[in-house]
Amino acid sequence: MNNISVGIIGGTRGMGSWLAGLMQKENTTVHICGRKTPLGIKDIAKLCHVIVVAVPIAATNEVIKQVGPLLDEDKLLMDLTSLKKEPVEMMLAHTRAEVIGCHPLFGPQMQDFSGQNIILCPARGTKWLTWIKELFQNNTYNVFETDPAHHDKMMAIVQVLNHLHTISLGMTIAATQTPPEELDRFSTPALRAKIEIVKKVFTESPELYADIITRNPDTAKIIALYEKTLADIRALAQSGDATKLKDALEKTAKKLF
Ligand SMILES: NC(=O)c1ccc[n+]([C@@H]2O[C@H](COP(=O)([O-])OP(=O)(O)OC[C@H]3O[C@@H](n4cnc5c(N)ncnc54)[C@H](OP(=O)(O)O)[C@@H]3O)[C@@H](O)[C@H]2O)c1
Repeated sequence: MNNISVGIIGGTRGMGSWLAGLMQKENTTVHICGRKTPLGIKDIAKLCHVIVVAVPIAATNEVIKQVGPLLDEDKLLMDLTSLKKEPVEMMLAHTRAEVIGCHPLFGPQMQDFSGQNIILCPARGTKWLTWIKELFQNNTYNVFETDPAHHDKMMAIVQVLNHLHTISLGMTIAATQTPPEELDRFSTPALRAKIEIVKKVFTESPELYADIITRNPDTAKIIALYEKTLADIRALAQSGDATKLKDALEKTAKKLF
């Protein structure tokens, strides 16, 4: 497809800015908008064949409701939201355009994006799917297609469990009231690496992590499993019998690796 113009709502920074850079590298015309840009949502909808919603999760539904009805059926509406079920349903409900849910599984601050994974949830139409898939694949991304429910179920592990684990670590360390300098003096390389991750979650975009955890439909299930696992670990740790805990680790390793 030639002379495609892409409009990115939320293209001024973050993931929208990553996509703008990628599209520009492919010589695609890109228009971006944020809340204070000269171009607004209506201008972008008129100018572009493809509209991408890349705003914070809490603003996504509202933006889809605004832009969706402005698009004809030959256009594409795509989002970059970290969750897929709700935004894809919203896009299908509010536009006649083709719809693809997209979730890049990395953040915008990486130095080298090569070999990273991108999930696509094609939801309406086929005209734009090959174009976007090839664009990502030609730039060394791995593209996997799935449906929104399966995506969100996987993100309950990859993001909800993972970030809850980091949050528990940070909050538990804080609850010990150990001064940071004291922790630093006693730190191992393993703890230092984990503290860097804690710092990222607690200070870089707490809003994003909070939305990812509170809005995933499978969060309650994964927390229940996490609590049960912690209770099992507590019983093993307090049994005073190291062999029991070692056996549990070896049994789990066989399932994991
Ligand atoms: N960050 C990540 O690691 C990551 C990874 C994968 C997917 N995502 C997803 O990408 C999306 C954006 O996240 P992000 O981290 O890139 O956010 P971000 O860095 O905060 O950027 C948000 C962008 O949206 C614009 N914006 C905010 N509210 C808006 C509104 N009401 N109308 C129009 N534009 C608005 C902002 O511009 P102004 O402030 O100038 O208005 C900015 O350009 C989210 O859905 C998130 O789940 C994020």
